[in-house]
Amino acid sequence: MDQVIEQANRYLLGTYKRPDLVFVRGEGSYLIDASGKRYLDFVSGIAVNALGYGHPAILKAIHEQVDRVIHTSNLYHTEPQARLAALLVENSFADRVFFANSGAEAVEAALKFARKWAKSTFGREKVRILAFKNSFHGRTFAALTATGQRKYRRGYEPMLPGFRHAVFNDLASAEALIDDRTAAILVEPVQGEGGIRPATVEFLKGLRELATKHNALLIFDEIQCSLGRTGDLFAYQTYGVEPDVLVLAKPLGGGLPLSAVLVKEDVAGVIKPGDHGSTFGGNPVACAAGEAFLRVLLEEDIPTQVKRKGRVFREYLDSMKAESNSIRDVRGLGLMLGMEFARPVGPLADAAREQGLLLCPAGKKVLRFLPPLTVAESELQEAARILWSVVQSQLS
Ligand SMILES: Cc1ncc(COP(=O)(O)O)c(C=O)c1O
Repeated sequence: MDQVIEQANRYLLGTYKRPDLVFVRGEGSYLIDASGKRYLDFVSGIAVNALGYGHPAILKAIHEQVDRVIHTSNLYHTEPQARLAALLVENSFADRVFFANSGAEAVEAALKFARKWAKSTFGREKVRILAFKNSFHGRTFAALTATGQRKYRRGYEPMLPGFRHAVFNDLASAEALIDDRTAAILVEPVQGEGGIRPATVEFLKGLRELATKHNALLIFDEIQCSLGRTGDLFAYQTYGVEPDVLVLAKPLGGGLPLSAVLVKEDVAGVIKPGDHGSTFGGNPVACAAGEAFLRVLLEEDIPTQVKRKGRVFREYLDSMKAESNSIRDVRGLGLMLGMEFARPVGPLADAAREQGLLLCPAGKKVLRFLPPLTVAESELQEAARILWSVVQSQLS
């Protein structure tokens, strides 16, 4: 395995800082490294592997589709793409779906659709996008411009014109920055990379009203917080606030690259052939995996299980907070939880990994917990045991 690490360090662009670990297999909630050591995975490929590793329904769908056809481009219809679009529409507020490959790509598409809709409906001045501080929407230029954190933009300026950033969970700040030239409000119902910060119900309800009042679209970026993660199929259902446009990615393709933009008919109506596109978007293998994933989620009512498991894990986290001064806050929804510390959490995540628990920071001082939605309660208990031993040994 030293050779893999050597090659990676020698030949890959240095965009990632990785531990000296090579994973060769996954099983349920566990990743297994080249030496055979097992790690309880509370990262899940950053909220991607919602059904854990090796779920039989996903494997079967992928194998069957690979044997039929891997890629056709979007010049032609394919069965899995049409079926997954129907499943998404039948289970959401939306009327139509556009498929892309990654989260950032879907955010780009959503912003393009919003501008096209706004300009063609209300005139060429209506182009502004209202986003929020501390948000994360991806690394491409429009998604990066929408992202309200300087650390991601440093070195890449200038950003695109027309974007403004209000304070998250501060309706007055949004009200001050919105006007009739605003085409869309873009918001994460639960900020993920920004430190697992749920919006308040009043905030999202207020944004809904502001968007309607100013003829702007309300776009929810549910890339990290959707598809069962908050304890409902979609996070907007957890809040009881309906967006006009919904952006999905991460777990959507059952582990394969797949993202989607869901829209209502009036937005769909302004998008014509040639207005947007993607060679790979909605690839049949990814869509077959996505369909299998979504059917399991719905048929086994996994969101309801997430509500219960989320409560169990949160109780563990809350009781740790009650006993340790170094834990500042515990927050989140369902199985998207975060623990904020008084100091940087990198060493805690490293120590947990040594003990066989994978955790991923969200910002400097927040440890984030994103187990597979299928995690067993005994695995929640095991993760809590390791976390508590790490917190005690590192911070006492
Ligand atoms: C809320 C949110 N939006 C967008 C993105 C970007 O997705 P991707 O990395 O697939 O481009 C992420 C990724 O972490 C995210 O959490």
